[in-house]
This record gives sequence, C-alpha cells and structure tokens, in this order.
Amino acid sequence: MIAPVNRPVPAVEETETSRQGAPAIGDRPLVPRHVAVVMDGNGRWARQRFMPRFFGHKQGVDALVRAVNAFADRGVEYLTVFAFSSENWKRPSEEVSGLMSLVLVAVSKYLTKLAGDGVRIRIVGDRSAVSDKLRQAWEHAEALTENNTRITLAVAFNYGGRWDVVQACRTAMAQGLRPDELDESWLSRHMALSFAPDPDLFIRTGGEMRISNFLLWQAAYSELFFTECLWPDFGAAEIDAAMEAYAQRDRRYGSIRPQAVVPEGT
Ligand code: FPP
Repeated sequence: MIAPVNRPVPAVEETETSRQGAPAIGDRPLVPRHVAVVMDGNGRWARQRFMPRFFGHKQGVDALVRAVNAFADRGVEYLTVFAFSSENWKRPSEEVSGLMSLVLVAVSKYLTKLAGDGVRIRIVGDRSAVSDKLRQAWEHAEALTENNTRITLAVAFNYGGRWDVVQACRTAMAQGLRPDELDESWLSRHMALSFAPDPDLFIRTGGEMRISNFLLWQAAYSELFFTECLWPDFGAAEIDAAMEAYAQRDRRYGSIRPQAVVPEGT
C-alpha cells in the first residue's frame, strides 16, 4: 500500500552561499553537491570471507558511517543511499528481518556519533510497511539531527523510484490539482527528496551497471559512476576516484558544448 505524503513540503534549500569558494572551472562546480549511492556487494563481500550475508550488511553500515564523513570532508552537501528497496522484501525472510534489526542496532550504535559529526539524517521511502519501533527510531534520528548543517544523509528505506512518482501523483490527485497545474516543478516539490537538489553524481558499487529503481526521476541528469568495489570496501580511495571522474565530466543537460571562439581573420 502506498502511503500518502502528508508532511509539509519544504522548498529545495538555498545553500548557494555554502558553495562559495568551492572548487570550480568557470561556473562548473568540480565537487558534486549531491551524491546518490547504490551500496551493492555486501553479500559477495561476506561470501568471499566464508561468512553469512548478514556479516556483509553489518560491515556495510560501518562503511556507510565512514563514507558520510569522507563525502562531507570533500564538500558534498547531500548523500542519499539506497539501504532497502521496495523490491528487497523478496529476499529470504531472515535476511529481511536481519536488515530491519540491523537498522535499529545501527541507530543506537551510531546516532550520537553522526549527530556530533554534524550530520542531518532524513529517511525517504514508504514508512507504512515498517514496524512502529523502526518508525520511531527514524523519527528520533531525524528530530535529533534536524539542525545539523555539515551534510544531509538521506537514507532511502523501503524506497522505489516508481513508488516515489506514484505517491507524488497521488498527492496531486488528492489535492484536486487540474492537469494544467501539474508540471515537472510541482512533481519535484512533492517527491521524497524535495528538500535536496537532484543528485549530481550517482554511484553504484559491486560491479552491476543498472539503476535498479533508485531515484528514477531525480537522476535524470546525474553523472553515473560504476565500480567493481564491493560496498564494505568503499573507502577514501574509491570516493576520490569517483569525485575525480565527476570533475572530468562535461555536463550539458541536453544542450551542446559551447562553440570555441574562432579568432577574427582565421
Ligand atoms: C546490497 O548488497 C545491499 C543491501 C540490499 C543493503 C544495504 C544496506 C546497508 C549497507 C545497511 C544500511 C543500514 C543503515 C542503517 C542505513 P547485496 O546484499 O545485494 O550484495 P550482493 O549483491 O553481493 O549479494
């Protein structure tokens, strides 16, 4: 069941001032403002060590905490991670319940540290299907870190890009919007990541090269970066490689490269 989104919709935050002084070539920022990550490869990482898959997910949480700080240190303002997809319910029930309990353990183990590190936590996804305990833990984490400004960590949990489009459309219908009132800007403002700019850089670890129903709407013009590195091993060196690849990209958003100026008389 798709839960309607009832909370007030904030506009994308104006944080341009925090970009002043950020490295850029002309008006092209070299540091992505928003990075999205599909954290794939936990299971294989564990199997390579003859350990249960759960062990890989546990290491994945530690890798995530390290990654949030590493991205923040490099000037990234928003990090959105795919922690549990709408499709992950199809996994064996013990893995699903293991992931649910892992999140609770992760909140109690790391929330104080993340809050102290200046991380603002937001959860995006359909909360209607998760337990009351988990919902309360999310609410607590969001409330505790609400005023932090160093980096926003958006955890996509029970999230799917198609779900996100449908829930925004349902909101439009519930509000009785006329067809001519519905446009891209309205939908963007009613999607789960309405508080953030669209991701500039979309990373997937673990060697697969697909988007897997993550941020289908928001990643329309994201630069894609795929790496064989399994998520628990994703550290500073891999983050630097992704950021360097991003800095080389020529983002045109459907336009064309500006023509080189031909000097007169040539
Ligand atoms: C994909 O690896 C990973 C997941 C489905 C879960 C990712 C979750 C975490 C890293 C924990 C997040 C926790 C919090 C608190 C946000 P996989 O299992 O598909 O790996 P495989 O492709 O090697 O089998």
